[in-house]
This record gives sequence, C-alpha cells and structure tokens, in this order.
Amino acid sequence: MTEEITTKATMDKIVSLCRRRGFVFQSSEIYGGLASCWDFGPLGVELKRNLKEAWWKDMVQCRDDMVGIDTSILMHPQVWVASGHLKHFTDPLVECRVCQKRFKADELEKPVCPACGGELTEPRQFNTMFKTFMGPVEDSSSVVYLRPETAQGMFVNFSNVLTTTRKRLPFGIAQVGKSFRNEITTGNFIFRDREFEQMEIEYFVKPGTQDKWYEYWVNERYNWYQQIGIKKEHLKLHYKCKEELAHYALACCDIEYYFPMGWGELEGIASRGDYDLTQHALASGKSLEYVDEETKEHYRPYVVEPSAGVDRAVLALMCDAYDEDIADGEQRVILRFHPRMAPVKVAVLPLSKKEPLVKLAREIYDQLRPCWVTQYDDTQSIGRRYRRQDEIGTPFCVTVDFQSLEDNQVTVRERDSMVQIRIPIVELKDTLAAKLAGEPLTAGAHVWRAGEGKKE
Ligand code: GAP
Repeated sequence: MTEEITTKATMDKIVSLCRRRGFVFQSSEIYGGLASCWDFGPLGVELKRNLKEAWWKDMVQCRDDMVGIDTSILMHPQVWVASGHLKHFTDPLVECRVCQKRFKADELEKPVCPACGGELTEPRQFNTMFKTFMGPVEDSSSVVYLRPETAQGMFVNFSNVLTTTRKRLPFGIAQVGKSFRNEITTGNFIFRDREFEQMEIEYFVKPGTQDKWYEYWVNERYNWYQQIGIKKEHLKLHYKCKEELAHYALACCDIEYYFPMGWGELEGIASRGDYDLTQHALASGKSLEYVDEETKEHYRPYVVEPSAGVDRAVLALMCDAYDEDIADGEQRVILRFHPRMAPVKVAVLPLSKKEPLVKLAREIYDQLRPCWVTQYDDTQSIGRRYRRQDEIGTPFCVTVDFQSLEDNQVTVRERDSMVQIRIPIVELKDTLAAKLAGEPLTAGAHVWRAGEGKKE
C-alpha cells in the first residue's frame, strides 16, 4: 500500500506569504509586473543565500575533488553551435489563428486554442535561447545569446581548470549563476521562470566508470535535500526512459519534489558521456584531452552532471517548511525551516520599550548581529511578535524582561515546541551557536523539552 503524501501548503498560501512577508515580489511590480521574472525581497534573499551557501560548502568547500568557477553569461556564439543548443534547444510552438496566442504544442490537451477554441497553426520549432547584440551594430554578425545553462562555461574551461589546479580524475567543476530561457509557457510562481539561477556540477570521470558515479551522484544529491530539511516523503527519483532524454544524455534521473501543483523536477542528474568535450574539441580545434599519468593514455573524460535549480529549491523549501497549528487558542502559520536555511536565526524582543530594558536588549542585539541575521522587534504584544517570527521561520526568540536586569538572564523560546527556558546572558551566544549548528534541543548545557517548562 502506498503511503498518502500530505502537505498543508497550497500555491495561493505560499504566494501570499511570500508577498506579505517580503520573500518574493513580482519583477517591476509598480508597472504591472514582467511575466515570469521575480525579485527576491529581504527574507527571500537570505533564504536563497543560505541555500546557495550550503550547496557551495557541501559540494565544493568540504570536498577535495571539486573546484568552483564563475563564468560569463555571454559566451562566444560558437559555444551554442557546438553544444547543440542552437539546433536542439527548441520547443514546438503553435499559434492560434484567431487570437494569436502562442502555446507549447506538446502541452495541449486538445488540438484547438485553449483560450478561445480557435484553429491552431502547424507546430514550428522555437529556440528558447534569448538573443541580444554585442557592440554597437545590431546585425546577424553581432548576435550573442544569454546562456540557457551554466554548464557550458565549465566545459569550455576544462583545460584551464585542469592545468591551473593539477586536479586528477575524478574531479568536478561547480558553478552557481543565472541562466535564461525564453519559455513559451511559464507559471507556478518561481517554478518555471525566464530568468533563474542554477547550481551545476560537471563531474569528470574515467570512461567506463560513469555508471558508478552516476548512481553516486543521484544518491548524494537525493540525500542532500533531506539534510537541508526537505521531507523524504516529498522527494522521489524519476529515472528517465530513452524517449525522455535530452540530445546529449546517455542517462538521466530527475529528483522530483511534491509541489502543491503535483510532482515536479527539482534537479536532474545526467550522464553526458564525452559529448560536450568532444563537440567543443571538434569546433575549437583544441584537444580537450586528459593524460592519465598511470596508464599514459590520452582520452576525453566522461561527465556526470548534477544540475539543480535555485528558484525551484527555494519554492520547495518554502512549501516543505509551511505548517499551520494552534497556539494560545489561535491558528498560527509557521515555517519550520531547518536552522541552516532559516532567513532570520534569532529575534530579540524586549518586553517593554522603556529604559533601561531597551539598553540591555540593544546590547544583546548588537552582540548577536555579527554572528547571525538577527531581528529586533519591540512593537505590539509579545504574542503577536512570536507569531510574526513563526511565520518567517525564526528558530529562536530571545525575550528581555525586567527580571533580566536583576538576574542577567533572558528567556529563549524555541519555534517548533514553543518551549521557553531561562539562560544566563553570558551563555546565550554559545548556546544559540550550538543549537543552530545542529546540537539536539535535548542535549548540552541548556535543553528545551517539548511538553516541559513554560510555553507561551
Ligand atoms: N545543464 C543541464 C540543464 O540545464 P535542465 O534540466 O534543463 O538541465 C536543470 O535544468 C535545472 O534547472 C532543472 O532541474 C530546474 O531545477 C532548473 N530549471 C530549468 N529551467 C528552469 C526554468 N525555466 N525556471 C526555473 N528553473 C529552471
């Protein structure tokens, strides 16, 4: 029997929370917005940075078989000829003869216009790369493209990285950056955009070992999403069949997430063989080979590519953290982020706006800010302030009250259990550091036990 998968998140609730609390705004909103482009607000930018920094730390910094790179968005137009994007990076487009609206032919349920029922044209291939011109002359010789993936920047730099780092196989090149696709149909908020960010790895291996590394990376990446707090039951692997593969792929497995609109691709892990290096070698005349020091063989490495979307992962983090429960007889909305992902880690809340309480609260705030993104809030009732922090997923609230002036202790409230404990101010920073770094709430010098102590 299959287990029923549940989520309290709906797309309407997530979009409204993102707008209301400053996670995501529509691009150029005051002008009516620009379709499928989004701006990340003060909380969204912190969440996105936490995600990208965690990826970089775990995939690059903590591994000795990986190096990073940051390549330009505009590349030589030959790159896209050699990679096959100019020929293959297309979608079948149909146009309504009545209302002139355009659709992706393979997404239509019926062979008529979904907007007005009008007759449709025959499908034609539409290249989804954005074009622009380089230099002052706008003619065909000055056409350049905005990259539709960060991957090619790593392939064309393969030799540069190899000679400057002296890495031996297997090793990977990693990059985080913007990509652009002129998608015919977009939608589902930040799931499918025309401007988005990718976190990609090109992992170079000895030919013949690619299947082992492909499975390794599928597992590695599947586990990573769970480590940053995504529930296992909301993730699944989809191994693609031959008909579903991109033009360069020998095999591909998608990691899918259970979004409110259904299962959707979060990341693809592709076994690309030596397709890209060979294509660029043929087009550039450079050998792009690797010399195996042991066997003295010359060959082009095979590539396994874990390719993730930043914006989709942000949406998955929001949906997965979203919860509703009852606190103090009222419904509360709560984002149960993993502490590593939470945009704000700590909030300092003085119980009164009066001196000398404010002075002490400000001192504590100043002490914590260099360590973590911290908020200071002295408006409205303490209950409302807790609700506001719950709704943005802040793991800990530090409350400074009049007793704090006498005993030099503060109350620290934990988000999920709502349990409050008293901690000496001198031990506050170390305690928060330990808990935010993953020490269980029930271990260490100060413990929060669900069902015990004071609850708000
Ligand atoms: N280099 C391989 C590559 O780009 P892809 O499956 O086309 O593969 C990888 O893209 C990831 O990039 C996807 O799994 C998705 O997370 C993200 N992505 C692709 N197109 C996107 C779009 N239009 N909007 C948001 N994210 C997108």
